[in-house]
Amino acid sequence: AIAALYVQNQAPASAAGHDHHGIDIATLTGPRQGSPDVTFTLVAAHGKIKLTSGTEIDGLTLNGSSPGPVLRARQGQLVEVTLINTDVTEGVTLHWHGVDVPNAEDGVPGLTQDAVRPGGRHVYRFVPDRSGTFWYHTHRDSTENVARGLFGALLIDPPSGPATGTTHDTTLFTHQWPGGEDQVSALGTADTASTEHVAPRTPVRLRLINSSQDPQRIQITGAEHRVSAIDGNAVHEPGPLPSGGMLLLAAGGRYDVSFPMPATPVIVSLHTDGSATVPTRTLTPGAGGAAITPPTGDGPLFDPTHYGTPDATPGPAAPTRTQKFVLDNGFGFANGGFTWANTVNGASAPAIPTVMVDLGDTVRVRITNRGIIDHPMHLHGHRVRVLSRNGATADGSPWWTDTLNVAPGETYEITFTADNPGVWMDHCHNFEHAAGGMLWHLAYT
Ligand code: C2O
Ligand code: CU
Repeated sequence: AIAALYVQNQAPASAAGHDHHGIDIATLTGPRQGSPDVTFTLVAAHGKIKLTSGTEIDGLTLNGSSPGPVLRARQGQLVEVTLINTDVTEGVTLHWHGVDVPNAEDGVPGLTQDAVRPGGRHVYRFVPDRSGTFWYHTHRDSTENVARGLFGALLIDPPSGPATGTTHDTTLFTHQWPGGEDQVSALGTADTASTEHVAPRTPVRLRLINSSQDPQRIQITGAEHRVSAIDGNAVHEPGPLPSGGMLLLAAGGRYDVSFPMPATPVIVSLHTDGSATVPTRTLTPGAGGAAITPPTGDGPLFDPTHYGTPDATPGPAAPTRTQKFVLDNGFGFANGGFTWANTVNGASAPAIPTVMVDLGDTVRVRITNRGIIDHPMHLHGHRVRVLSRNGATADGSPWWTDTLNVAPGETYEITFTADNPGVWMDHCHNFEHAAGGMLWHLAYT
């Protein structure tokens, strides 16, 4: 019911009051008053996108490119983004994936706003409360329109600003572009060269973002490296991972990887279909560089369950609510017909019941995947902490995530605090699965 209060228009803070359940309406929108610290304008339009492979596709662009511009702000700043839709007939919204914005800024059409029609615009305002690597994407016809290009990076620096000095800070997307006979996977922006020169001993920070529909396996060869953040959450005392190590990145997920640049090249490669290796981005220590030997074979797979060391955060609180989700797939009735469906507790949207919570609840959720495909589960508006995976307690740095890849046969226990009132979407970040019914809502009583 509270959603209805701001679906059509964002109530200004001056109209603040309480809904009949006692939730302060002002907490549902970003600050409407005051001048923003940073402003961006993103213009969505049809356009040509040139891929690293040289192929040109008819895509959807933001300010003329895809990925769209890197939006960069500091934790605690008031960010204002104006979205303008030129000619995307399906409509466009912007969802700030991983940033726990107030509900009305969340960019979910039909739930927190109307999609922006061609010729229209919408203003988002929010204050990021954590630094880290995030991204934005349209949430309207996501299966098609994120794939076709309506996404970009959102980097939040600490309040003191970006690391100064020599840090080489690079953002790489792994993305599946539609069109052509094959889907082309590209690690890197669509139109940049695949080699970067980095002076030896320079601290390197690679921000890896998976904007595709599937989990991606990324291999880093040539340097011992550390995963310094997962989904924008810093890892406490991350340990070294060997050259050749593999990172499995959930669809929608991010890893920040750091290492000092060695005197020899470092190759970041994408393992498509679990076999072929695509060397996609090479860091060389100087112009010309040394000869590159592409990696052969898979190194050890990164396991966030036992990575880093515990920090000062108190352990997980006792749950005040519990929930179980069994993910499955098979033939059944969905979308008005007999079809292949992805299900949650045996149901597909819109038949999946809304999960109700009270403000302040500690919610514990058990998620099991009984099906045969990966499901990257993404809850809007809240980060979750992973407590265990397949019965093994997560015992390293607290593992915070917003997009948890639940592979076939896996069971996770997660917990989150119900601290962000509103009506939120919870869905599989394989957008095709979401469109096929694997989505539901979380609402506050
Ligand atoms: Cu990045 Cu609802 O998604
Ligand atoms: Cu799925």
